[in-house]
Amino acid sequence: MSNRYAVILAAGQGTRMKSKLYKVLHPVCGKPMVQHVVDQIKKLNIEEMVTIIGHGAEKVKAQLGETSHYALQEQQLGTAHAVMQAESILAGKEGVTIVVCGDTPLIKSETMEALFNHHEEVNAKATILTAKIADPAGYGRIVRNDHGLVEKIVEHKDATEAEREINEINTGTYCFDNIALFEALKNVSNDNVQGEYYLPDVIEILKKQGEVVSAFQTNDLDETLGVNDRVALAEAERIMRSRINESHMRNGVTIIDPSSTYIESEVTIGQDTVIHPGTILKGNTVIGEDCQIGPHSEIESCQVGDGTVIRQSAAFKSSIGASVNIGPFAHIRPESEIHDEVKVGNFVEIKKAVFGKGSKASHLSYIGDAEVGSGVNIGCGSITVNYDGKNKYLTKIEDDVFIGCNSNLVAPVTVGKGAYVAAGSTITKDVPGMALSIARARQENKENYVEKLNLKK
Ligand code: UD1
Ligand code: MG
Repeated sequence: MSNRYAVILAAGQGTRMKSKLYKVLHPVCGKPMVQHVVDQIKKLNIEEMVTIIGHGAEKVKAQLGETSHYALQEQQLGTAHAVMQAESILAGKEGVTIVVCGDTPLIKSETMEALFNHHEEVNAKATILTAKIADPAGYGRIVRNDHGLVEKIVEHKDATEAEREINEINTGTYCFDNIALFEALKNVSNDNVQGEYYLPDVIEILKKQGEVVSAFQTNDLDETLGVNDRVALAEAERIMRSRINESHMRNGVTIIDPSSTYIESEVTIGQDTVIHPGTILKGNTVIGEDCQIGPHSEIESCQVGDGTVIRQSAAFKSSIGASVNIGPFAHIRPESEIHDEVKVGNFVEIKKAVFGKGSKASHLSYIGDAEVGSGVNIGCGSITVNYDGKNKYLTKIEDDVFIGCNSNLVAPVTVGKGAYVAAGSTITKDVPGMALSIARARQENKENYVEKLNLKK
């Protein structure tokens, strides 16, 4: 096997996206398109990877990090011109270079591996990954001669009526003999409808020099999708989503209705967990085994332990333990740490709070900026008063505390271990451990008062 190199084209603005965000950074199932491409390339045995950057260069670099070299294409003069920018890094090196467009997020490493192998088997100087598709509009067409051999690629905009009838397209992925590639690039002109230097022209140049040029057809048409506009973006999202759902199901996760379940690329889910309809799992969320998630729950970048139930609720950037019961209609805001066996019931909001093992807030509570110990019971309607309009303060509720219904805990304040707070209290001072604190107006009953005032006739 020869040395392998990769060039990823990611310098274009992506005019057809009509977006402030650079095309290759548009996410597909939560991950930028170009990252999908790079992650697949990383699975191959590649010596060096070069990403061509231009529009949004710094942002693309920040996204991909150290995995790639970068070459700057200051002006986007076309895909051939883009590859030329990698010359200082790759020219003169013996081996095979795969070129992939950063806007083909569905390409798989297996297909690229097969393309490499085919290229080496037939001893070609260039091999195009092609596909036959029903609607080839917009793509470059593969023009073959009478013997069925590839002659050239013609871009849609430059194609004759007859050429537009061809339904074998250039997927935008190719293997080249590295030395031949950089030699041929010097001969590419911009004499075409778009006035651009087209990488596909390298095929015709090599062919005319009598070199072997080959095509490798993939049957997985999904992989060929080049995302140039938002319609294609939604299509890529749909296909990627079904791939992701399928892989979870194959790993032992039950997804009741895959068509209404949205799981981003980096999410992991344990065996025998059931994902109910309308659920969205985002970011680097990790869900344990035997959980029940949804229906209609949104979970972003959370760790969720085994056997936890999250119904009709939203949770963000928090850790949630095992055998926890959340919802329906709970809101777990960032930086919360919910330990095992906790119950967070309906209309409870938790923000930046630790909730110790087995503690409960079953109904209508706001617990923000708080440290709640284990075995605590927070009664219906009780809240932490954490904000004075300027600053946020901490509420500490130690182990085994019982907070009666409809209490206000005005922070900073501590309720000591085992203490009781009577229902309806507004607690402004620390409560010692094991004490009962009552902080409400005393009730007075005025006997026969109604009759005296003659209110009832
Ligand atoms: C390209 C191919 C076409 C193929 C299609 C597959 C050319 C001329 N055409 O067309 O044959 O069917 O992909 O999806 O190559 N880019 C740069 N610098 C540039 C121009 C583009 O880095 O100067 C990058 C873009 O960011 C993009 C990729 O190259 O990631 C492809 O460019 P795009 O404009 O999308 O080409 P297509 O018109 O889709
Ligand atoms: Mg494209």
